[in-house]
Amino acid sequence: MLLSLSDISKSYNTPEGKVEVLKAIDISVSSGQSVALTGESGSGKSTLLHLAGGLDRPDRGRILMNDRDVTALDEPGRAQYRRTDVGLIFQQFNLVPSLSVDANIAFHAKLAGRYDAAWQRDLIDQLGLASLTHRYPEQLSGGQQQRVAIARTLAARPQLVLADEPTGNLDEATGDAVLDLMLSLSRTVGSALLLVTHSMRLADKLDRKVLLRGGKIVA
Ligand SMILES: Nc1ncnc2c1ncn2[C@@H]1O[C@H](COP(=O)(O)OP(=O)(O)OP(=O)(O)O)[C@@H](O)[C@H]1O
Ligand SMILES: [Mg+2]
Repeated sequence: MLLSLSDISKSYNTPEGKVEVLKAIDISVSSGQSVALTGESGSGKSTLLHLAGGLDRPDRGRILMNDRDVTALDEPGRAQYRRTDVGLIFQQFNLVPSLSVDANIAFHAKLAGRYDAAWQRDLIDQLGLASLTHRYPEQLSGGQQQRVAIARTLAARPQLVLADEPTGNLDEATGDAVLDLMLSLSRTVGSALLLVTHSMRLADKLDRKVLLRGGKIVA
């Protein structure tokens, strides 16, 4: 097993009191597998991705990546984990505003020590970004930024890609095409994929579907 979350609970303190978002959840992803994470708005999908990505810690439970306990890592250890083990594609793309498209795509790959110029060019071509490489993020449309975020993550060839609605800003046809491309590029890299989507049609393209409801995995 590549990633396994067991008995994971997470709650937040809010002005209305404590909200239990995840209640003793178990989920695992094997190497190279693609898993769709679905559930209505507020069901805890992004929370689960943040925990798996080492951005936040659960209240209870264990997260193992290649049998290594992510929950036991201190902050520098988690930063290292985020650089080298996982690739994150967020709902808001988190591109570096002061870097060109080209430099944004190279950034994580270089941090992870896996920069490969030929692979980067390949990604840029396949994602239709060739004419935009000298632009800055603010000069791009939402859909273009989304494709840059996808290229940036895949450029670093992580073992696991955690993607939060990576095609949410794209029209249906472009979203379908970009998801197909993500699946085939992930296969090329050998990356596993845990992908949040609201679309059952997109979820059906992946190896497995899981549904979050009421803080539990129900399917
Ligand atoms: N930092 C936080 N502090 C307090 N509450 C939070 C925090 N982050 C998320 N929540 C709450 O936790 C619940 C789950 O949020 P989360 O963002 O994981 O949902 P989601 O399934 O990703 O929703 P969406 O589909 O709208 O993106 C929501 O009720 C949200 O209001
Ligand atoms: Mg979310």
